[in-house]
Amino acid sequence: MMDRLTVQGGKPLYGTVKVSGSKNATLPLMAAALLAPGTTVINDAPDLQDIRTMGMVLRVLGAEAKLDSGVMTVDTTNANGWEAPYELVRKMRASFYVLGPLIARHGRAKISLPGGCALGPRPVDLHIKALTKLGCRFDLDSGYVLAEADKLIGARINFDISSVGATGNTIMAATAAQGETVIENAACEPEIVDLADMLNAMGAKIVGAGTPKITIEGPTPLHPVNWKVIPDRIEVGTLLIAGAAAGGNITLEGARSDHLSIILTKLIESGAQIDLQGGNIKLSVSDRLRSSDITTAIYPGFPTDLQAPWTALMALAEGTSMITETIYPERFNHVPELIRLGGEMKMKLNSVQVSGVQSLKGATVMCSDIRAGAGLVVGALAAKGTTDILRVYHLDRGYEKIEDKVRALGGTIERMRD
Ligand code: UD1
Repeated sequence: MMDRLTVQGGKPLYGTVKVSGSKNATLPLMAAALLAPGTTVINDAPDLQDIRTMGMVLRVLGAEAKLDSGVMTVDTTNANGWEAPYELVRKMRASFYVLGPLIARHGRAKISLPGGCALGPRPVDLHIKALTKLGCRFDLDSGYVLAEADKLIGARINFDISSVGATGNTIMAATAAQGETVIENAACEPEIVDLADMLNAMGAKIVGAGTPKITIEGPTPLHPVNWKVIPDRIEVGTLLIAGAAAGGNITLEGARSDHLSIILTKLIESGAQIDLQGGNIKLSVSDRLRSSDITTAIYPGFPTDLQAPWTALMALAEGTSMITETIYPERFNHVPELIRLGGEMKMKLNSVQVSGVQSLKGATVMCSDIRAGAGLVVGALAAKGTTDILRVYHLDRGYEKIEDKVRALGGTIERMRD
């Protein structure tokens, strides 16, 4: 049984909605609970398929993990396992986040290689290189990464590419390493800052998270904590872009505008009006937006996870825009679907040239990954008439009750079960 979303679009959005906690921050926080035997509580955890998958990974390792009304409780007292199977890792690459904690806790781990996905191959070479520097030995066998370490020793690690996952894994392993670990060209994403903040509250000594140089002094005994995850900046960005595409006046409650600087700047540049009041972001749009180029980049650059929604927004903006993808050059599955809605777009290598049209018209379209799906929701809300969005399970991996949120903003959207 596959769900689809039916959207009646082409009407402005008006309303207020509270945003969810960050999926991409919650995933490593759940893995980090393995570092401190006992019960760690993560508040505001979103109820999403990816979060449930991480819960399954933790349960396979012997932990208990349950999500109840936004409260994720992870009891790692009996987490004596060290093997994450293919069935789970292939569903979600972020399962690989247990590597660092398992090495730190047990000195060994066996984790399936993530394999491919709609965005191309998903390498983990940076994770492996970094942990090798800390004294971990790796072997590859039948699609599994086997890791072992007698003793972890602090080291200097300079990443060739800034990677969120590899930075997170290295920080977690380094909390158990003897002496100082210095990570250079570390990912600066807010999700890494949240992870370091929680680890510090657990007793770790991590300095510099949020900058390209992070220093970890270890080993420190870690204890469980009660934490509150940061709001989901990608969900906030998607809803703001949806509001801009459909027009109207929307308020998002509980957001962190400091995590969204580039999006807010780009929205203003395109003609939207933004007002910040405490943790609320208010967006209003009265005229047709102007086109504005973007190039995805590591934080604080334009996030690749908002490239598809932005492409959908530009479909209706006045003028021509260039959307360039530098993080995942193949992340353009939404483009043929937006063309089905009447968008005028031309692919050129890792860019798409969008010529803004006066209006889009509803059609049947299909999600192929989380963010492409988000782009289609934006397109559907802006398109006149009915759009059926198929394969919503992709969207459900990353957006908590998207239809409830859109409805709270006055959109007409319904989930149908075929
Ligand atoms: C995280 C986010 C994802 C987002 C991405 C980039 C989570 C769960 N997911 O993914 O939503 O799109 O950041 O902002 O937080 N790379 C390598 N070797 C490696 C690891 C990565 O070459 O070992 C490359 C990747 O192919 C990619 C780039 O590095 O081109 C960035 O990837 P990375 O930051 O690691 O992304 P994730 O942590 O997987």
